[in-house]
Amino acid sequence: MLDLTQTPTRPLVAPSVLASDFGAMAADAQDALDAGGDLLHVDVMDGHFVPNLTFGADMIKGLRRHLPDAYLDVHLMVVRPQDYVKPFADSGANGFTFHIEVCDPYLTRGIEPKYLIEDIRKAGMTPGITVNPATPTAWIEPLLDHVDLALVMSVQPGYGGQSFRPETVEKVRLLRELGGDRLRVEMDGGLDPDTSRQAVAAGVDVLVAGSAVFGAEDRAATIKAMQQPA
Ligand code: DX5
Ligand code: ZN
Repeated sequence: MLDLTQTPTRPLVAPSVLASDFGAMAADAQDALDAGGDLLHVDVMDGHFVPNLTFGADMIKGLRRHLPDAYLDVHLMVVRPQDYVKPFADSGANGFTFHIEVCDPYLTRGIEPKYLIEDIRKAGMTPGITVNPATPTAWIEPLLDHVDLALVMSVQPGYGGQSFRPETVEKVRLLRELGGDRLRVEMDGGLDPDTSRQAVAAGVDVLVAGSAVFGAEDRAATIKAMQQPA
């Protein structure tokens, strides 16, 4: 099993199953791994934090059953991530990344991010924190020592197939500087062999790619092109 706490020697590519064939997800995901994908990105959406709706713990369990060795990097676009720590850990999730936007500063929604991160770790998963394109990195800076991964959204979350927002690359530079080598910096949205070059040059070490991989005529060539060091 991949260990995301280790600094990778080249950028890792995480095919996003959001762009896979939902009727044959495990087989399609396996194909993306066989084509060279390093881990799988799994987008959970609740229809509240984002308008779209995807899947939950049972689907993760199904993926885990069919793909026992795959690292499952779960990205929660949900308003109550705290409800899913145990169910997702039990289902076989490896990474658990939640949005800072659901943790408002006055804690009126009852989410204290440091405790949530602790719970994620205690449950045996790798904790990650993420920011929407409009959210400044300052919101997550106090948490960087606590998480293993920071995810920079390079599109507004909710849907695959959107255009990359180049202005988000600056956030990667900042997080890499603040987090140093021990922090995995992941980017998600609109990444392909072309846009991933600027992401990697800025310090991204985990590249999420949905439509670029699953929609590619040659998945292996696409993944290989993205795995090139800056
Ligand atoms: C968007 C999701 C992404 C999505 C990326 O809300 O978080 O993970 O799968 O898709 P592409 O690579 O097609 O932009
Ligand atoms: Zn995602």
